[in-house]
Amino acid sequence: MRELAGKIDAACQAISAKYPERPKIGLILGTGLSGLSEQIDQQAVLPYEEIPHFPQSTVESHTGQLVCGKLAGQNIMAMEGRFHYYEGYSLQEVTFPVRVMKQLGCEILIVTNAAGGMNTQYSLADIMIIEDHINMLPENPLRGVNDDQLGPRFPDMSAPYDAELIQVAKASALSLDIPAQTGVFVAVSGPNLETRAEYRMLKAFGADVVGMSTVPEVIVAQHAGMRVLGFSVVTDLCLPDALEPVELSKILEVAAIGGERLSRLIPKDIETID
Ligand code: HPA
Repeated sequence: MRELAGKIDAACQAISAKYPERPKIGLILGTGLSGLSEQIDQQAVLPYEEIPHFPQSTVESHTGQLVCGKLAGQNIMAMEGRFHYYEGYSLQEVTFPVRVMKQLGCEILIVTNAAGGMNTQYSLADIMIIEDHINMLPENPLRGVNDDQLGPRFPDMSAPYDAELIQVAKASALSLDIPAQTGVFVAVSGPNLETRAEYRMLKAFGADVVGMSTVPEVIVAQHAGMRVLGFSVVTDLCLPDALEPVELSKILEVAAIGGERLSRLIPKDIETID
């Protein structure tokens, strides 16, 4: 019945053995966005294979380790590399690290991702502060028997992204002169990119950017009562009437620019959050 709880306990024990501090913030670094971890005063680095029940990352552009230490004066743990639905994992597996972060003490989850920009006002390498999301994945991480000790059966989704943290991020971006949009993220399963007709549909649904991650982790963080701050980096422009074929190398190149911006922005946010 409490099978998931047992797995969370085992993972937490393994991490605590190497990093006995209580982290306050959990960070998930998306595709091409791992640069921020260089700024962490690293106290422990755990490859995912050393953490019981952690899935292994199968994507080349994702390293696959948990970095624990101090960033901007706060105890944090950062996932260098995340898990995606398209890799074949269930969403319960994809979101397992969020459960572990919460149990270790994280009150806040900061998620980042590379995403395609559908809003015509957006430019390449823009940062978008995620204000809300649309879940178009064919699964839900909370499907199945609910463990009431982990969260409620029907978690509220009226404000999955914390309004105060959004304001902090906006103010930090302004003070650092980093161009930042605020908008809606839609999650699709991938791994293929979208057709022109699909981009038109997703935009009509009300989304500004599209990506293959993040929403499952945010749903679980919300279920677990964590405050969430999310950022997308616009790595390709998804303009249906002028669509160019996407290359991963180009996405990674643009992600590096956005990643550098996030490497300045996120520490500033963390410094401000109490
Ligand atoms: N679509 C889906 N996921 C993405 C995209 C996109 O255009 N760009 C980066 N991740």
